[in-house]
Amino acid sequence: MTTTTTREETRAVLASKGASTLMQRCQLIAQCTEKPGEILRTFLSPVMDEVHRMMRPWMEAAGMAVAVDRAGNLRGVYGADGDGAAPRLLIGSHLDTVPNAGAYDGVLGVLMGLALAEASAERKFPFAIEVVGFSDEEGTRFGAPFLGSRAVVGELTGSLLECVDGKGVSVATAVTNYAIQRPETIEAALSDRCAAYLEFHIEQGPVLESRNLALGIVEGLSGQSRCSVEFHGLAGHAGTNPMKLRKDALAGAAEWMTRVEAMANRFENAVATVGQITAEPGGVNVIPGEVRCSLDVRHAEDAVRAALVRAAFDEAGAVGTKRGLRVETAQYHEHPAVRLDAGLVALAERAAGQAGYATMRMTSGAGHDAMVIAPHVPAAMVFLRNPGGISHHPDESVSERDVAAAIHTGLCFLDKFAAYLAEKETRTRG
Ligand code: GLV
Ligand code: MN
Ligand code: MN
Repeated sequence: MTTTTTREETRAVLASKGASTLMQRCQLIAQCTEKPGEILRTFLSPVMDEVHRMMRPWMEAAGMAVAVDRAGNLRGVYGADGDGAAPRLLIGSHLDTVPNAGAYDGVLGVLMGLALAEASAERKFPFAIEVVGFSDEEGTRFGAPFLGSRAVVGELTGSLLECVDGKGVSVATAVTNYAIQRPETIEAALSDRCAAYLEFHIEQGPVLESRNLALGIVEGLSGQSRCSVEFHGLAGHAGTNPMKLRKDALAGAAEWMTRVEAMANRFENAVATVGQITAEPGGVNVIPGEVRCSLDVRHAEDAVRAALVRAAFDEAGAVGTKRGLRVETAQYHEHPAVRLDAGLVALAERAAGQAGYATMRMTSGAGHDAMVIAPHVPAAMVFLRNPGGISHHPDESVSERDVAAAIHTGLCFLDKFAAYLAEKETRTRG
């Protein structure tokens, strides 16, 4: 009896091999950290150089020309079939992390680009593939996110350059010094041949798992606001000041936080988070006089998000009036909600179907580099099931089988992308 191996069976075998390698690489990259005992990688840190040194030989072995740009983004180009002026498909995500991170958020999407080039096994397409590892998506170092992708689209400008890190170094100084110390770096810009962006990412939530699906197709991403809220009271002796005569900034901040939580609960699908808090002067026997809180607000509708931010600021004012505290509020980062490209989203969906995977359409509550790239070139995103929905946490995980599903989908996407480009070209020519 003879057996014929179908094209999809061959791709499934390649995908499964690639998934095993990708999982091992995620663990290797997880060892590159600024803080022993936990995963932490921040914008332009020496540890990011270490990741680049680790990834470069893998990318070169896959036939890529590798470079780092002046904003610290790792970039590798897998050339097109013949034509040097061929369009480019950008595939990637980010290499930085939140504090005490897991091993897959961001890194997986960068390694997916590499896995797809490797699984193509020297086969060339009528387009080049550029794999990008963005240097900052989380905003861990400067509070403001997407510094890597914003640099690439020419949006690392204005007040963003004035944000400072914990040591008082500004974005402008950090980027200038980085480039001076690395004369070999290339311009941080999107290639003018870039025709589309594709990002794979763990879902960072429980929905796909609850639907028993390996993959989801992202149609859009929620907008986000990042704000600071400060309460100024009066520091004083913890033993001598009666409760009723205090101006305790931390007690005020605590009351405000529970009000914000209650308020976000009243809006459907809204989320509001106070993730950072500093209380000064920080003595066990001193009434806190100064408190600074972060506030992160997200919603798929920009008007609802803006209303939520206003309401959170009003609540802070009300708490301040009630408790005799001075309150200062500011929104220092805002990104509107983004719709991804309908044609490319449909292409990703059909690619998953061809690979044999049912999918669902989703809106991402998390921010992703795709949000920044999508207004400039057509973009699509594929989510991978994330067990327990655990992410931004050391227990974050993804299964090797689901990674294989994503690689198989990616291979089908590459096949279809050539036709997508041709069709687009015909439509443009009209
Ligand atoms: C990044 O993961 C974010 O959504 O803040
Ligand atoms: Mn993240
Ligand atoms: Mn991420």
